[in-house]
Amino acid sequence: MKAAILGTGSWASAFGKHLTHKWERVVLWGIEAAQIDSINKTGTNPAFLGDITLPPNVRATLDLDDALHRADAVFVVVPSQAVRAVAKQAAASAALKPGAPLISLAKGFEVSTLKRLSEVITEELEAVGRLADHPVAVLLGPSHAEEVAREQPTAVVLSGCAKTDWSRWQGLISGPFFRVYTNDDTAGVEIASGFKNIIALAVGMADGLGAGDNTRGTLMTRGMSELARLGSVLGGRTDTFFGLAGIGDMITTCISRHSRNRNFGEAVTRGDRSPQQVLADSVQVVEGVHMAQAALKLSEKFGVELPITKQVHDVLFSGKPPRQAMRELMERELRTELD
Ligand SMILES: NC(=O)c1ccc[n+]([C@@H]2O[C@H](COP(=O)([O-])OP(=O)(O)OC[C@H]3O[C@@H](n4cnc5c(N)ncnc54)[C@H](O)[C@@H]3O)[C@@H](O)[C@H]2O)c1
Repeated sequence: MKAAILGTGSWASAFGKHLTHKWERVVLWGIEAAQIDSINKTGTNPAFLGDITLPPNVRATLDLDDALHRADAVFVVVPSQAVRAVAKQAAASAALKPGAPLISLAKGFEVSTLKRLSEVITEELEAVGRLADHPVAVLLGPSHAEEVAREQPTAVVLSGCAKTDWSRWQGLISGPFFRVYTNDDTAGVEIASGFKNIIALAVGMADGLGAGDNTRGTLMTRGMSELARLGSVLGGRTDTFFGLAGIGDMITTCISRHSRNRNFGEAVTRGDRSPQQVLADSVQVVEGVHMAQAALKLSEKFGVELPITKQVHDVLFSGKPPRQAMRELMERELRTELD
């Protein structure tokens, strides 16, 4: 079996390492020559995965056709806002093997269209008449690259288009340290996976302000309420929000030292740099920033109240001081917990 992984960042590299337990060949495709060289010459990707060494049957290439040629599955592991451009190139490639699924591991929504990433990939395949040949799925859940690369037990959710039996792929993607569940609620899985990054930003800001565990627990719980409100309007199911891609990833991202969203939230409360300046210094993608924009637009479109999301958005894009945002959340009109 050969896997094509589109992306050469943290998650692409760690996931590629994991796949070698069952897949004979893993080829990462990327656009940054320095990363490709490093992976091929030293087996490491230091800027994205520290000193972890990739197995010899992982290689990298700048040539998309080379990665796609005879690949049994294509995993899309680039930042959410790059998924359409990458899917478009893959869909147009003559090297894309008939029958190969396109599986997205990116978390978030496309901000310009407010679409889920599986919808974005589906549109790009449809545009060139290749959707019938290439089922689309997502593989999401609490899966920090650093921990997967170190073979820490991890579980995720595979969810894809209804006409495909995903249990075969579930078996092929699972491994000794990586357990894959299936879930037919693709909308719910995708909304939950993107949304938790907004709450991780809020928890990071609270941490930076010196808040304690009461605050963290409150933000995560009320964040779950926001997810359930918006997610159900967008077609997701409550059970999914209480699954791995929902509360599982919410807890993991909000408490972890690996979470770049939580860490970014904390960083914007420190020093005198604006969120945009902190973002410009970040080598790696901070998906919660885009998701805060998408979720706020969706909340306005569907008339769903998202108070934490709104405050995070105001801190990121309107210059509101994080301490004021926290105070405004506490001073909102009192209400019943269950709505
Ligand atoms: N890092 C994790 O632990 C983790 C875990 C699960 C899911 N994810 C999700 O996976 C996605 C990728 O995250 P990451 O952590 O690997 O990001 P990263 O910042 O570590 O790497 C991003 C990679 O995408 C490449 N890239 C950017 N724009 C591109 C384009 N237009 N065409 C081709 N390649 C492009 C970059 O060169 C880089 O190799 C995100 O949506 C993230 O939320 C990450």
